[in-house]
Amino acid sequence: MADRKVTFLCMASFFKGTAFIEECRALGCNTLLLTNEHLKEKPWPWQAIDERFFMHDIYRQPDVTRAVSYLARTREIDRIVPLDDFDVEVAASLREHLRSPGMGDTTARFFRDKLAMRVQARDEGIPVPEFVHVLNHKQIDEFSRKVPGPWMLKPRSQAGAVGIKKIHSSEELWRRVHELGDEQSYHLLERCVAGDVFHVDSIVYDKKVLFQVASRYGTPPFNIWNEGGVFLSHTVNPRSSLNRELLSLNEKLIKAMRLVRGVTHAEFIKGHDGQLYFLELAARVGGANIDRLVEEASGFNLWREWARLEHAYCLKKPYDLPKPRNLHAGLLICLSRAEKPDLSRFSAPEVVWRHAEDHHAGLVVAGKDYDRVNELLGRYQHQLTKEILAVQPPTDKAIH
Ligand SMILES: Nc1ncnc2c1ncn2[C@@H]1O[C@H](COP(=O)(O)OP(=O)(O)O)[C@@H](O)[C@H]1O
Ligand SMILES: [Mg+2]
Repeated sequence: MADRKVTFLCMASFFKGTAFIEECRALGCNTLLLTNEHLKEKPWPWQAIDERFFMHDIYRQPDVTRAVSYLARTREIDRIVPLDDFDVEVAASLREHLRSPGMGDTTARFFRDKLAMRVQARDEGIPVPEFVHVLNHKQIDEFSRKVPGPWMLKPRSQAGAVGIKKIHSSEELWRRVHELGDEQSYHLLERCVAGDVFHVDSIVYDKKVLFQVASRYGTPPFNIWNEGGVFLSHTVNPRSSLNRELLSLNEKLIKAMRLVRGVTHAEFIKGHDGQLYFLELAARVGGANIDRLVEEASGFNLWREWARLEHAYCLKKPYDLPKPRNLHAGLLICLSRAEKPDLSRFSAPEVVWRHAEDHHAGLVVAGKDYDRVNELLGRYQHQLTKEILAVQPPTDKAIH
């Protein structure tokens, strides 16, 4: 008997997730796209989209709830899928309203609200930097006396290091807090942990982590977003004890956050004290081309696997993860002076992806030999810095 046709509603407030949509078509789904009007002209894979809907602002309530409920009068929506991080909350609230399966409001909070994820992680025994909600001034004062600076003052639900301030003194702290006015309670304050930043990207099905890969950011993202430079991330040596430590903490974290199925992008800091701390967790594919890095390392695409596992779940069928090929891979990205930089001189056979568009340059290097890939990454990072890189001041906009 042929499979039932499954209907996915993909929500996107940013242009991304085209591989997810294409995979939906390959699986024979009925795919609806709901996006913002200003993204109408983006190169969506229209041939894979059955129906498209545009709103002025897909976050505006009750408009979006009414719009999706209206669509549901004549369509049976099986899954609501948020393609961007900011869509996770809206999708959760729609699922609650439509009583549709998938992550609801409470769980979505653990993936979008940095304060909620801190509290939950701490309560479940996962090490986190000391933190305090920017709410009660006496508690903030006690925190600043007890926990040595510098501290990070951060919005609870932003991304791409937007709005995060590094604070060095209690004068600066109180000035910033007062400047925030009524926005204070939407922030948290935490100890700045000096160290290396890592990310672990994973696939979860039926509460089990079926696949995960750990990578290290060359320079912490905060410094890249604020000071510029070449963004680098590479997979961690799979045979190292650090790799085992990262993977086991990531598994514990996903369990603590009650994720049932989907893809995740978690970040950790390894402090100079040797301790691994949880930084943040998202229920989505990592941004900044991390999907390319994971794809070259593992041999499969996280967006496509996400579509496949949601589809399998709808049909109550098992989800089969492809066998990962476990290559070592590294990603380099930078802003470029030229609109379409010439990357032909990055010509080693291990260069598996080149991207030159819109004043951005990107490379992925992958291979079996860990040392060779690292050596190439070091050399190319240097060369990109010297020959291609443009330095721009930080923006107030999120980088997805
Ligand atoms: N407590 C901390 N100690 C040290 N660095 C931090 C801390 N919190 C954030 N950072 C830096 O800021 C970056 C962004 O912070 P993060 O919490 O991951 O928010 P975002 O959602 O903006 O990525 C991190 O990758 C790291 O470089
Ligand atoms: Mg982050």
